[in-house]
Amino acid sequence: MSLPCFDSPAGPVAAGLLHPVAIHAELARQLGALLAPGTTLQADQPLAKRTTLRVGGNADLYVEPASEGDLSTVLRFATERQLPVTLLGRGSNLLIRDGGVRGIVICLAQPVFSGIVVEGDRLRCGAGARLKGVAVEARRAGIAGLEFLEGIPGSVGGALRMNAGAMGAWTFHVVESMRFMHRDGRVEELPAAEIPVVYRCCPLLKSCIALGAVLRGRPDSADAVGGRMAAYSAKRWESQPAQPSAGCIFKNPQPIPAGKLIDELGLKGTRVGDAMVSDIHGNFIVNLGGASAGDVLKLIEIVRDRARTVRGIDLETEVEILGED
Ligand code: EPU
Repeated sequence: MSLPCFDSPAGPVAAGLLHPVAIHAELARQLGALLAPGTTLQADQPLAKRTTLRVGGNADLYVEPASEGDLSTVLRFATERQLPVTLLGRGSNLLIRDGGVRGIVICLAQPVFSGIVVEGDRLRCGAGARLKGVAVEARRAGIAGLEFLEGIPGSVGGALRMNAGAMGAWTFHVVESMRFMHRDGRVEELPAAEIPVVYRCCPLLKSCIALGAVLRGRPDSADAVGGRMAAYSAKRWESQPAQPSAGCIFKNPQPIPAGKLIDELGLKGTRVGDAMVSDIHGNFIVNLGGASAGDVLKLIEIVRDRARTVRGIDLETEVEILGED
């Protein structure tokens, strides 16, 4: 692991005398002294329970800032100590390796980042707001166009970062503007037209942190919106597995949807340990209970190998793979 940079380079860390757990505790003590009491800060936090796939190791430091001020303090601290920073949403599109994530993992889960405010046919949403909550608010307010968010088990921040999609729609189809923080703590808001996005990625958010977005729909009756949400939900329940997963593992390649390809290759039900290619949808790997990240990664390679050798198709992972083995 890369050693955090301490105040005194000649101290016990530089001498290699401290165990990583003690280093993380000391880093937490130093960072904690700069933060408000409402900010959650933990050393060596298990991350598996914070992801929908339920695999992976610990975060060296885990922080839930209580304000934008504390978020920028954490970023400054990380820059000064040369610690990597990782943003965690609701962990629904993540595969965290078994060795865990070095540096600081930040999650905008506190209420200050999770608001949803209706303004006419717009919703001003914090990055920590749940997508399901956004869809429910839109239905209550009679705003159409956001129904597809109903079944994506993520946060607004994660959906912006991944340009998440379902039912033929993308997150950025409904984004009017986005507020975000640069690594130096500067906050900026840009109209969606000035933010480049592609299928399943908003590259700007590889270096900046989404704070929230204004989503725009169009007026409709709450009943009509609710009807469409119910239809989407039914379609998802019949075509996607209910077991723990990270959603779709691969991006859809040009010639054929990944799920259909994996199905045609006869790979449904293939297992490595407790990781299994879903027998309901070929592009999902489910955790039957005791899977490790290593199991999932091996299974991904088996599927990619088969797709390449049998059909000449290179499957690219859609899930974010983070951390160390
Ligand atoms: N199909 C099969 N066998 C399978 C799975 C799918 O033949 O095992 C066929 C389906 O019958 C359909 C086609 O493949 O004809 C496409 O399947 P589906 O409608 O399920 O859509 P998808 O392209 O596999 C996409 C998104 C999902 C999103 C669904 C529903 C990607 C990679 N996936 O799946 O998003 O929920 O549409 O709108 O774009 C995610 O991003 O994590 C995700 C789950």
